[in-house]
Amino acid sequence: MVQLRLPKNSRITTGKTWPQPEGASRIRKLRIYRWSPEEGGNPRMDTYFIDQDKCGPMVLDALIKIKNEIDPTLTFRRSCREGICGSCAMNIDGVNTLACTWGLDQVKGDVTIYPLPHMPVVKDLIPDLTHFYAQHASIKPWLETSSNTPAKEWRQSIEDRRKLDGLYECIMCASCSTACPSYWWNADRFLGPAALLHAWRWIVDSRDEATGERLDDLEDPFKLYRCHTIMNCAKTCPKGLNPSKAIAQIKHKMVERQM
Ligand code: SF4
Ligand code: FES
Repeated sequence: MVQLRLPKNSRITTGKTWPQPEGASRIRKLRIYRWSPEEGGNPRMDTYFIDQDKCGPMVLDALIKIKNEIDPTLTFRRSCREGICGSCAMNIDGVNTLACTWGLDQVKGDVTIYPLPHMPVVKDLIPDLTHFYAQHASIKPWLETSSNTPAKEWRQSIEDRRKLDGLYECIMCASCSTACPSYWWNADRFLGPAALLHAWRWIVDSRDEATGERLDDLEDPFKLYRCHTIMNCAKTCPKGLNPSKAIAQIKHKMVERQM
């Protein structure tokens, strides 16, 4: 069962079942989490049917089809439609992933869709990412330098640049952090896999001159050390990144500097 953060004193109920399309030969059933702050009350699972022969191949295509042709009140985020903006992250068939890159045919049977787990919900499939973004900002995701600014650019060798591979590709979709039990229970103090992957991205950047301060800031029983290497983050990341490895590298660096 997906670990959702439900509104206080509520439970998920069975919602409306919309009619099936007529004359369709390839019907897909989608069960989608619905909750709106205007309506309040219990969240519900609404059931929709689409003709897959008249729909694009991705889960996002199905959501857009439902919104355009069946129920305009269905609310979700999306922008790029090609796995770059990170805005369409949601829980599909028990997996945190991107609706625009997850194929309808990757799901066997009915497609069940929830918002990202354990996050406050703004509406339907839209999680409130305010705290998640604040944690990202807290690791200072920019180049920190104290040397004089070079006339042209901060140079980096090809070898050093390669150290950023597997880190810079993160699209801040929040799939990893919201798949992490440590983050579910301690999100107020544990930075979570996404913010820590970014922290490592700047620690390992050869041009950055604030490594000591960055490590000092993470030397905290919760911010970093609440990671128990459960690895849900690496398993779920739709970009194939490994936040758990980045966290292990930060911990290693912490030990190294004490030697
Ligand atoms: S590491 Fe992967 S899952 Fe986590 S925020 Fe970045 S892209 Fe999303
Ligand atoms: S819409 Fe941009 S990642 Fe899915």
